This record gives sequence, structure tokens and C-alpha cells, in this order.
Amino acid sequence: MPFILKRLSYLFLLIPLIGLVACSDASKTSLNGASSSESTVTLDVYKSRSCGCCSKWIDHIKQDGFSANLHHPADLNAVKNKYGILPQYQSCHTAVSSTGYVFEGHIPSRFIKQFLESPPEDAIGLSVPGMPLGSPGMEMGDRFSPYHVMLVKKDGTTEVYANVASLEEQHQ
Ligand code: CU
Ligand code: CU
Repeated sequence: MPFILKRLSYLFLLIPLIGLVACSDASKTSLNGASSSESTVTLDVYKSRSCGCCSKWIDHIKQDGFSANLHHPADLNAVKNKYGILPQYQSCHTAVSSTGYVFEGHIPSRFIKQFLESPPEDAIGLSVPGMPLGSPGMEMGDRFSPYHVMLVKKDGTTEVYANVASLEEQHQ
């Protein structure tokens, strides 16, 4: 009998310990979960070395929590062709996520975040064709040309992902 009591007391000693381990595991898991949803998204950005508006766009996405790996390939068109950005949807720089989505041109970072949160099934990415005046990295005082952020699909077609009609809308 005394032996069994001894065994039982060991058990009681052990139970709180098990509880502690389980708790610390749970808190670790929830911490990891929180940090992964807020973790930095890194984009590979392909641009020409001398592109000033590209650097300003990179500053813009960094201010919004992205980080960027810069690449200066000899042939930028080859990069755009590789990722399926047709000439009419091309701009000065091409950004690529680690998940393989493409973001062409001066896209406001909030649309990249929105896209990455729930990428449409048949999409390869987003594009702001050309270099609209007043888009991120293309600022000239209050001047602004309305533009569309295009959703680029696997079959080469596009649709309007966002209509950016004013500076106010761009910064929303
Ligand atoms: Cu540009
Ligand atoms: Cu650029």
C-alpha cells in the first residue's frame, strides 16, 4: 500500500509538469501562427540598374512591409516573357513572389497584399502597364493619371483587378 501511494504521488507530481509542457507548446504554436501571418513578404525584383522609378517603387513596397531582392539581368524582356507578361502589359520592372506570382510595374503594394491573400485560381499575377503618372514610384507632385491594375491570367487574357481613379484611392 505505501508503495502504491508513492507511485500515485509521483503521478500527481507529473501531471502539472505535463500540463506545463502542453501549455508552452500551445503558446509557441500560437506565437508562430501570429508571426507567420504578419511575416515579411520578399519579392524578387528584376529591373535595369539605372531605373530610378523602379527604385522609388521598391521604396514604396518596403514602406509597406515588403522586402526585395534586386536583380539586374542583361535581358529584361526575357524575364517578362518567362513569366508570361505580354508586351501590352509590360512596364519597367517585374517582381516575382516566392510562390511564383508576377507583379509587373508600378502596382500599389496594397493590391499585391490583397492578391497574395487570396490569389484567383487562374491568375499568374497583376500588372500596371506602362508607367502611369502619379502611381507609386512615379510621383510628380499632385499630378495623376487614372489607371487600372490588371489581373493577368494563365491563358494570356486579363481583366480589371482594380480601378485607381485618384491619388486618394491609391492610398486607401
Ligand atoms: Cu517605372
Ligand atoms: Cu520600374
